[in-house]
Amino acid sequence: MSQKQDQWTSKLGFILAAAGSAIGLGAIWKLPYVAGTSGGGAFFLIFLLFTIFLGLPLLLTEFTIGRKTQHEAITAYRMLAPGTFWHWIGKLGVATSFILLSFYSVVGGWIVIYLTRAITEGLAGREGTEFEQLFGQTISNPFLAVFAHLIFMVLTILVVRGGVQKGIERFSKIMMPALFILFLIIVIRSVTLPGAMEGVEFFLMPDFSSVTGETILFALGQAFFSLSLGVSIMVTYSSYLKSSESLPRSAVSIVGLTIFISILAGLAIFPAVFSFGLEPAEGPPLIFIVLPTVFSAIPFGSVFFVAFMALLLFATLTSAFSLLEMVVASVTKNDPTKRNKAAWTIGLLIFVMGIPSALSYGVMGDVLIFGNNFFDALDFLVSNIMLPLGALLIAIFAPLKIKKDELYEEIQKSSSIKRGLFNTWYILVKYVTPVAIIIAFLNVLGII
Ligand code: PHE
Repeated sequence: MSQKQDQWTSKLGFILAAAGSAIGLGAIWKLPYVAGTSGGGAFFLIFLLFTIFLGLPLLLTEFTIGRKTQHEAITAYRMLAPGTFWHWIGKLGVATSFILLSFYSVVGGWIVIYLTRAITEGLAGREGTEFEQLFGQTISNPFLAVFAHLIFMVLTILVVRGGVQKGIERFSKIMMPALFILFLIIVIRSVTLPGAMEGVEFFLMPDFSSVTGETILFALGQAFFSLSLGVSIMVTYSSYLKSSESLPRSAVSIVGLTIFISILAGLAIFPAVFSFGLEPAEGPPLIFIVLPTVFSAIPFGSVFFVAFMALLLFATLTSAFSLLEMVVASVTKNDPTKRNKAAWTIGLLIFVMGIPSALSYGVMGDVLIFGNNFFDALDFLVSNIMLPLGALLIAIFAPLKIKKDELYEEIQKSSSIKRGLFNTWYILVKYVTPVAIIIAFLNVLGII
């Protein structure tokens, strides 16, 4: 532990890297398809409430644990509660990151395929529903899907082996602003398509008649997924942060950016879905069918399509970096001499673990686990069980194992947060979050 800690060079770098972890497939790919299958506006509203009242406080909790201890997650929990089983929260986070990245990278691979195709053949004069068939053909090709998944993992490994400063921070600084601008262009086109208003309504007008216990658990899982919470990644990331930065302000910026991009994603996708007569409940392929359709209706659509796919790839990579970083940091404990080998070994193991997911929409489509293909089963396990469970444990841990005054002191460093606001945060973490998560679990199990 005598090694010098790698640190973020600037506050902006940290915010962008943490926002880079948060913003990725969760807001852009997962939210639209889960909202599409779970009732649209009502789902989105519940997701927003969870994000603000549970997600934001929990993000601040993870930041506080990381910066207070200045160590990656497992060590951090050990330092705060020596000799207890609490460091298993960190281990659960490592296991969750491992499984999550295995299927996340499969979608990353789809993006690699789409980007390559966008560059070589543009939109090739296709339109409307033709993109639906194209997607089916693409991901059902086993060699292509596995090879693209491998490329995505190798790209992730190459950055993570370079360490946080050189790798992750430098990348994120350019990518995030560009992504916002391009998204705005797509939204403008999408909402001005004929019949677009029906989609805007579907996304923004809540219809509570379709809400079930499952909708609520999905919205909860989605809130944690899109803020990268419950895995202790934000503990590890903030351990590289100096104490001169304001934690509450960083947390608010990240949550704000994530909500903003989630709204943009919904407004980009649903108006186009309705305008082109596509199906909102399409599932994981949704954006890969809808986006090319929107671009085919924009002048110079092929150029925008290339740019968008490149940015989506970047956004996905920055989240993947954080997932791999979480596992690598837990093994190397900040020893830079071990980083290269650890990144390659772990990265390739994750690749192998992801192969069945890569085949789930093709040759392994008939292999079902509780009625879901392998990909969807892993996604369900991670998003709706492991992430909420991790979040529950962190919310119980912090107020139990860190004195209230110490929490206040850490959060207050370089922020002038008032005691009243601090108390609100404390109540949300200590009582509201655990109760909400437990109710959601019990409800889905049919117990209440
Ligand atoms: N937040 C990331 C996204 O939305 C996914 C992620 C979840 C990353 C959990 C790290 C931890 O794409």
